[in-house]
Amino acid sequence: MKAIVLVGGFGTRLRPVTYAVPKQLIPVAGRPMLYHVLDLLPDDVEEVVLATGYKADVIAAYVRAHPVRWPVRTVPEEQPLGTGGGMKNAGDGVSDPFFLLNSDVLASADLHAMRAAHAQHGGVGTMALFEVEDPRPYGVAALDAHDRITAFVEKPEPKDAPSRWINAGIAIWRREVLDPIPTGRAVSFEREVVPGLLPRGVFAFRLSGYWEDAGSPERILRAQRLLFDDHRGGPGGVPPGARGSGPVATMGEVRARDATFGPYVTLGARVTVAPDARVENAIVMDDTVIERGADVRDSLLGPRVRVRAGHRVIGQVLGEAAEA
Ligand code: GTP
Repeated sequence: MKAIVLVGGFGTRLRPVTYAVPKQLIPVAGRPMLYHVLDLLPDDVEEVVLATGYKADVIAAYVRAHPVRWPVRTVPEEQPLGTGGGMKNAGDGVSDPFFLLNSDVLASADLHAMRAAHAQHGGVGTMALFEVEDPRPYGVAALDAHDRITAFVEKPEPKDAPSRWINAGIAIWRREVLDPIPTGRAVSFEREVVPGLLPRGVFAFRLSGYWEDAGSPERILRAQRLLFDDHRGGPGGVPPGARGSGPVATMGEVRARDATFGPYVTLGARVTVAPDARVENAIVMDDTVIERGADVRDSLLGPRVRVRAGHRVIGQVLGEAAEA
């Protein structure tokens, strides 16, 4: 099987960081988000096709420089085509069936078991669903007694939600689902195409474990905690000469003598954290400098940020080269 991964969104909820860095390359628990998503794929996947758009060149260059265990091809869009248009544009030569992954879903999911379930029910698609407390921001599935999806209700009021099982952004589809997708304009696969596929048999694959749509600042930090707790963090630990407790992941050389860390921190390459500064529950990207006595918590700091001595950065998102 091949996999199409949708990597073309603008990541508006993570601005201003995403003005400089595409969402999929933001490090979470020491690795770019995209790489955690790809980790879910079975080893025998023949090819990963990245449907790119925004900052397509940056993503293509990064995956060339940091190869994964499957061949990767990037297929850029000249204009944003939405999820459906992106699939269609990237779908030439895709396998039947194929995996479809959103690139901002950080989860535990057994795609071997999902593939087996898909082969067994014989329908046109299998969608991973995850049960949430509050389904209001999501597409919510109605299911029959055999776990066949009978409807999707987008962003329902609680009283209108048919269940608490939401579209988890991980699916397996027969290749024929690409046929009805119109070309030349943006198409939402979930809204415009999936409803028409339901009569042909789309079945639920219920996820247990954890799942997070890491598209907003609060959620990307929550996803980072989940990944660290699941031992999926990158290497590192509290830097030499620093204090505190992990998990901390470092993505290159870091200077942090007499600083205090953790838990739940990612430090990019060449980050400097001066003595008596403190960093907790945060993502700090390459070349950022946190000066003496500063306090950074619950925050996402883009590349080349400077946090001035003694300043507090709590619950903030700072874009490339910002000063706080
Ligand atoms: P926000 O702007 O913050 O909502 O983020 P986003 O642009 O990533 O949108 P959203 O989270 O709804 O996207 C879900 C998935 O579809 C993500 O993996 C996106 O990268 C992807 N995606 C969204 N729009 C497009 C598009 O026009 N083309 C392609 N190829 N992928 C897209």
